[in-house]
Amino acid sequence: MIKQAIIPLAGQGTRLLPITSVIPKELLPINGKPGLEYILEECVQAGIKDIIFIISSKKKMIKKYFYNDAFFKKILKNKKKNKKLKVEYSKIKKYKKMIRFVYQNSPKGTGDAVLKCKNLINSKYFLMLLPDDLIINNNCSLSMINLHKKYKSSIIAAMKVNKKNVSRWGILDRDRTNKKNFFIKDVIEKPSIKSAPSNHAIIGRYILPSKIFKILEKQKPGQNEEIHITDSIRTLIKQKNKFFGHVFAGKYLDCGTMKGYINSFVKISKI
Ligand code: G1P
Repeated sequence: MIKQAIIPLAGQGTRLLPITSVIPKELLPINGKPGLEYILEECVQAGIKDIIFIISSKKKMIKKYFYNDAFFKKILKNKKKNKKLKVEYSKIKKYKKMIRFVYQNSPKGTGDAVLKCKNLINSKYFLMLLPDDLIINNNCSLSMINLHKKYKSSIIAAMKVNKKNVSRWGILDRDRTNKKNFFIKDVIEKPSIKSAPSNHAIIGRYILPSKIFKILEKQKPGQNEEIHITDSIRTLIKQKNKFFGHVFAGKYLDCGTMKGYINSFVKISKI
């Protein structure tokens, strides 16, 4: 059973500057609550019990969001009848119990962020959610966990994207079936249009095997000198480890860009 999830949160948020020079992008509100809370809700509903946040010293505000008890207690003293406040505080306390923190102080990429969790993962497989990627109307993590139960393998969320945009994503080479769940033959991080094996992009939900830590320890930097999880997944696929792509049913919102972030307000308000 998959009970552990990791969430890389040490990214610099350059696509959302200048606001991210002072506020972590994951705390930016979308219709009244931080984007990060949507991710946490998805985890809880998927049965996750232990969540590891990979933050940096520059993003300590994220920890403060969950550890601001003195503030809440003081306010609640004077506003004992404020039910909404009580509900919000209990929600935060509930999350706090589930979250642990590790630090990635230099932005060396998603692969490096995953490696920081090596000593905290205690099962064969774990879930990773990239917080820029919100998926609404259907719990993608839950569907992937159910699929994992069936296939006993690694799973990556996939979505067809416009061929012109393949270099924005990790791209999958898939078998030629037309199924929603397919066998992944290869993965390439942000390929050119010419070298892209398909237009099926990786979206930020992964069920990964803990054996990936061994590969990550030796992983050389790739694109932009960063250590990419995609490159280590590629090695595992080459070593004949099974990875399935899952074309999820929900609606994807790219909250890592200003345009996508603004669009997410409209889409979420319609739920
Ligand atoms: C990361 C991954 C990429 C994936 C994308 C999904 O890229 O490296 O493979 O397709 O997330 O959002 P980033 O958004 O960090 O550039």
